[in-house]
Amino acid sequence: MKKSKRNTEIPLTDEELDFVKESISSQRIDRSKLPHYDNSEKARFFRYIKKNKAFACICVLLAVCMVTLLSLCVAFAVKKISSRIMDKSDYTIIIGDSSYKVKYKTAVRDGVLYIDMYKIAKYAEMTITGSDTSVKFTASKNNYLRFEDKSSTAVISGSMVDLGGTAVVTKDTCEIPYDFLDKVIGSKNGLKLSLDNDTNTVKIQRRMYKTEDKDAMLPVEILLNADSFEAIISIVRPSQVKPEKDYGYSIDVSPYLANIVPLDAERYLLLANKQTPLGADYKPSDLVKLECKTADNRELYLSYDAARALQAMMLAMSADGVKDVSVTSAYRAYSRQKELFEGYVKDHMAEGMTEEQAIEAALEYSARAGTSEHQTGLCIDFITSTMRELDESFENTKAFEWLSANAYKYGFILRYPADKVDTTGYKYEPWHYRFVGRDAAEEIYNSGLCFEEYLTLN
Ligand code: DAL
Ligand code: ZN
Repeated sequence: MKKSKRNTEIPLTDEELDFVKESISSQRIDRSKLPHYDNSEKARFFRYIKKNKAFACICVLLAVCMVTLLSLCVAFAVKKISSRIMDKSDYTIIIGDSSYKVKYKTAVRDGVLYIDMYKIAKYAEMTITGSDTSVKFTASKNNYLRFEDKSSTAVISGSMVDLGGTAVVTKDTCEIPYDFLDKVIGSKNGLKLSLDNDTNTVKIQRRMYKTEDKDAMLPVEILLNADSFEAIISIVRPSQVKPEKDYGYSIDVSPYLANIVPLDAERYLLLANKQTPLGADYKPSDLVKLECKTADNRELYLSYDAARALQAMMLAMSADGVKDVSVTSAYRAYSRQKELFEGYVKDHMAEGMTEEQAIEAALEYSARAGTSEHQTGLCIDFITSTMRELDESFENTKAFEWLSANAYKYGFILRYPADKVDTTGYKYEPWHYRFVGRDAAEEIYNSGLCFEEYLTLN
């Protein structure tokens, strides 16, 4: 059988052709409605997301987290920068329960925040001594801090250290860098210091501890030492690092030792006599009121270390049973000495002497104004209740006996001994004691020299 073969082409009719054309064009329209097929990675990623909803959620969550984090970082940075650069608001200094404000410009110099040590020392019950340009803050155990005006160093209990700024010392202020204070007095010490840079607030509080027996709180001791500082120079004198010799003190002198054996002992070798006047203007810069008053209730003043050494000596005398003794004269101003001396001259003239004779007589026991050792603020006259005036009868008192054996241990010397009248220029004064510091006093005591002779030899 033959295979049928139909390959004869029969042309379409016009009708059929129209139908075909129409059909093709409608297909084209439908096709154009189909989505454009994008094969880029981004398009494929989104197609993947569309299909995987969980993955999409994780992506959205991550994006939100990242935006939040970024916003927080920006906010923090802006705050930090603005607080550092823009915040020039006043500082609030809170010390204990009280507070005060300091202008930004006053508190911050060359980018360093300064704080007044005077106010802190008063709050922390430290002893303040010094002059207009130099100030010493003494804490317990005689640890101390010393600052000099315009100096970039400080002395901490005998070691000179860098201050990290420049101190400004006036009569009653002492501006020092906050960071220095924080280091020396803050961490683990008796004071707690904090600085809030956002509000420019400095807070200073005493650290307290609970006592064992009761619930009472006591302040932590303030110990000042240069341990956390690099010492520039150690200015502890050799005599002070030597073990303390047994002087047989009858009281605990440790709170007074820094005064009895002062670091700058040379300043207590100040000479005032007929040949070496002090002049009308001399006045010690560190006079303090004595704890004791005279028998007739007058107030007395001495240079700080001398006053502390005297306090220790009076306590020791009392502990040893020598109770009948008091101080009758200490620092005397130029004007007071003038009155006294002129009074003596007048008295002698009333006795019938010429002015020249009267002056000569007075000069045997009283100094002309400007030459008296009492103007140094370093000496005292003792008296007892049985004496009506200062005279040699003091030699027969228990006080004199005690002073003769012990005064040097507290840094005092008998200034006008009976056998040195030609050298000192004054009659014997068993009642007049002069503070020179323990080292010099001991040498003078052991050598039998008077002050003028000791100074000549040294
Ligand atoms: N009595 C001593 C010498 C004085 O007047 O300073
Ligand atoms: Zn005197």
